[in-house]
Amino acid sequence: MAGLPPGAAAPKIAIRGLHKNFRLRGGQAVEALRDIELEIEDGEFVCIIGASGCGKTTLLRIIGGFEQADQGRVEIASAPSESGLVTSTVFQEDSVFPWLTAEENVAYGLKVRKVPRERREQIVDQFIAKVGLGAFRKAYPAQLSGGMKQRVSVARAFANEPEVLLMDEPFGALDEQTRLVLQDEILRLWSQHRRTVLFVTHNLDEAITLSDRIVVLSARPGRVRAVIPVDLPRPRNVIALRGNPRYGELYQQLWDLLQADIAGARA
Ligand SMILES: Nc1ncnc2c1ncn2[C@@H]1O[C@H](COP(=O)(O)OP(=O)(O)OP(=O)(O)O)[C@@H](O)[C@H]1O
Ligand SMILES: [Mg+2]
Repeated sequence: MAGLPPGAAAPKIAIRGLHKNFRLRGGQAVEALRDIELEIEDGEFVCIIGASGCGKTTLLRIIGGFEQADQGRVEIASAPSESGLVTSTVFQEDSVFPWLTAEENVAYGLKVRKVPRERREQIVDQFIAKVGLGAFRKAYPAQLSGGMKQRVSVARAFANEPEVLLMDEPFGALDEQTRLVLQDEILRLWSQHRRTVLFVTHNLDEAITLSDRIVVLSARPGRVRAVIPVDLPRPRNVIALRGNPRYGELYQQLWDLLQADIAGARA
């Protein structure tokens, strides 16, 4: 691919010159994303942070194919995989089907793809166990707590075996303890299954804990303001990590970037 040094692997996701405008009813235009350039490596965990309304969800929706860019393109280097599924998405709102049980939700994508029953059951058992929902596998979402429902969503996304996982504030609505437990679980799942993950969050602790790199978007129109590598060792323990001096430095760096942006937007 052009622009890469010889011998370098092609990125898993290449976002080139992406622009997106929305038109409101009165004809007024909202510029959501401006000239986004980004490369994400295979198996990388990348968090996206930025002010509310800066285009994070829009960017994820374009990558997932739910929304069209006005200019530019997203290239996903797709390797032939068992599932044939390129992206799988977890949104902040309940993304589970209320009429299916926890295990049926996890099985849903596999069923649609006609994965044979035996294999399907194996995968579902494995992921239900991994997110600690063994006792609740026959429960319907209405019978589960918010954290449990998000666990079902995460299990379903991983069980689908997509090449790229897109997560839009999946833990945003959860209390701090549940969020910490789920961060630990997602780190474990990711290290075992090595998917490429793009994860939107407002929470700086969450971004530092999970990421290989953090993309900081500017206030609207969203542009890539900085890409910060998170050079903390893995495997990471969600709590132990906070005692690492580097953690505090990264937090400060991200906070300064976001603050400068807010100040700039008000000037
Ligand atoms: N379907 C749409 N029609 C019109 N405008 C839209 C649409 N979707 C998003 N926008 C606008 O695009 C901008 C970016 O929205 P987006 O939802 O991507 O922001 P965000 O960064 O995800 O915000 P938040 O952190 O609050 O979730 C906002 O100004 C929003 O009003
Ligand atoms: Mg959003």
